[in-house]
Amino acid sequence: GAFEQPRAVAEAIQPHIDLSNFTVAMSGVGFDTKKVFGEIERIFIVACGSSYYTALVGEYMIERLARIPVECDIASEFRYRYPVFPKNSLLISISQSGETADTLAAVRLAKAAGVKVLSICNVRNSSIDREADGHLYMNAGTEVGVASTKAFSATLALLNLLSLATAQAKGKLTVIEEADYVRQLQAAPAQIETVLNLDKFFKKAASTLKEFKGFLYLGRNVHYPIALEGALKLKELAYMHAEGYAAGEMKHGPLALIDKNMAVVMLAPRDELFEKSLSNLEEAKARGGQVISIGTGANARLEQISNHYLVLPEAGWFTLP
Ligand code: BG6
Repeated sequence: GAFEQPRAVAEAIQPHIDLSNFTVAMSGVGFDTKKVFGEIERIFIVACGSSYYTALVGEYMIERLARIPVECDIASEFRYRYPVFPKNSLLISISQSGETADTLAAVRLAKAAGVKVLSICNVRNSSIDREADGHLYMNAGTEVGVASTKAFSATLALLNLLSLATAQAKGKLTVIEEADYVRQLQAAPAQIETVLNLDKFFKKAASTLKEFKGFLYLGRNVHYPIALEGALKLKELAYMHAEGYAAGEMKHGPLALIDKNMAVVMLAPRDELFEKSLSNLEEAKARGGQVISIGTGANARLEQISNHYLVLPEAGWFTLP
């Protein structure tokens, strides 16, 4: 379950990094990634549910580092919208089970159009794994819960690696930068462990939040998909109304809903967007909303405005999600 995440992330990355020089070398994919990633001009990522939210994080990572356009689609929409595949497109499918019908249909649609398909999956020889041209495995072990946890985190780590491998193939990454990102990835399992040990915080926060009518999860940039995923988890596990939203969109609608019965969960790491996140929280507080914020490091202003403040280990944009 969730407590296996540190091991799952470590095992997802291990086959693809060379610790003698902290470089990325994708292995066992089934095609020459250096060649393919060097040629591609557009990436499509298709998935459902939590897997779709990992795809959205991947979009930010790959575009930021490799500088090629990435388009994410919910598979059930993708398969019916007559998508256009420019030359040198690559379709990445993300599916823990490798059996989700809409994602399989999206893979078949891309293959019928002559597009190369790379599958990120947790089950070898599943339908999607078998039909893809290239394979990356979450190596997370069997995911038994309805809600994906260790597979989710392992997928994010694989997308970290993919963004580095693509950037490397495109000549957009120096060896120094690559080594720095690989070291950040290496540090992730221990950081996850630290968060998993904060369960007294979660128990305390949950005891006051169980009465709320609704939750609004807010995040920016790579944390926006994580806000979507957090809301999905609350729906799937606690059967409570929760919505994930881009924090910058709050004033265009959801703000009207905030009152003392609504809790706002804000992902607010100390990054270049922090001030904007803080002003979102001030707006929510002004309307009587309960505020749970998740940040990095000591942050008196965030702590003072929050009803609950969870401090995450310091990490950069690359691994904080
Ligand atoms: C849903 C699950 O049914 O399928 C989600 O409730 C999951 O947790 C989604 O993310 C996609 O599944 P898969 O196996 O394609 O990743």
